Amino acid sequence: MLTLPKLPNKKAVKSIAVLTSGGDAPGMNAAVRAVTRSAISQGVEVHAIMKGFTGLLEGEIHPMNASSVANIIQRGGTILKTSRCEAFFKKAIREEAAHILRRKQIDALVVIGGDGSFAGAHKLEKETGFVTIGLPGTIDNDVPGTDDTIGFDTAVNTAIGAIDRIRDTASSHDRLFIVEVMGRSTGFIALQVGVGGGAETIVVPEMKESISDICQAIDRGIKRGKTSSIIVAAEGDKGGNGTMLAAEFSKRGHQARVCILGHIQRGGSPTSHDRYLASTLGVASVSYLLAGKSGGMVGVSGHRVVLVPFSRIAGKRKKFPLEPLRMAERLAT
Ligand code: F6P
Repeated sequence: MLTLPKLPNKKAVKSIAVLTSGGDAPGMNAAVRAVTRSAISQGVEVHAIMKGFTGLLEGEIHPMNASSVANIIQRGGTILKTSRCEAFFKKAIREEAAHILRRKQIDALVVIGGDGSFAGAHKLEKETGFVTIGLPGTIDNDVPGTDDTIGFDTAVNTAIGAIDRIRDTASSHDRLFIVEVMGRSTGFIALQVGVGGGAETIVVPEMKESISDICQAIDRGIKRGKTSSIIVAAEGDKGGNGTMLAAEFSKRGHQARVCILGHIQRGGSPTSHDRYLASTLGVASVSYLLAGKSGGMVGVSGHRVVLVPFSRIAGKRKKFPLEPLRMAERLAT
């Protein structure tokens, strides 16, 4: 079980703001609730910024109280709404953002999002000195420096539930199915879903498997009497990876049905794992700020909560473990 770091309370912060940014993820609401309630319980004012960095620039900033976050721990999506803000790539825009926050007498900003959002948060703090801290919220679990991200567990369980259903029909019709899961440039969802869903093969962007290797795996299964198979594939950077694979299989005599799970994986009520993770990291973010620490993401290492400097995240890729892919292969034989 995750444990909170023991930090001194220096009370350096009187007022904070919180926003969600990038793709939404189940558990973001639980994180917003934890940040808000934890701060208020320690005498810190809290402001909600709507629509991520876009809303910050538009001045959509509202005071929060303990009741503002009532009844949201179980809700998917984000009550603060979110955006991918292109404008924030510009230095002048980030300076404007810091100005807006200071005008509102806000001392620190909590950014809940993925590595793209942290790149913006990093530059905001480095260039303007505005105190900023991050919480990893993305279904992709691809943020370097943390074992886990808020939303990953829920997305994986949603996809596994879908695969269990697909398996019923695949088996009834003796069919081959390709299930495409989210992950443009990373296969963490595909890996976890593929292992848990008993996939024949898992296709991820981190490992360039040839079509003939994948077909060989299918043929091996057929040889030993399998009448239906499921392949889990990450969507890939161009999208439509599943459809592309099906077209290639067809050239080699395998007819596959494709099921693209898409944004279904981003919605829904967070699992207890994601609620606990979001609550713990949310509380920790406020503790770090009150201890005078910022400039990083509150992440997970083993069973410990850690503060990872943004500089160790920006422009880096999370190492993808190849061993579980090999394990999945052995389990599919
Ligand atoms: O938030 C992460 C993610 O869901 C990726 O898995 C996916 O590739 C991407 O966002 C989709 O983004 P959008 O909803 O903007 O199309």
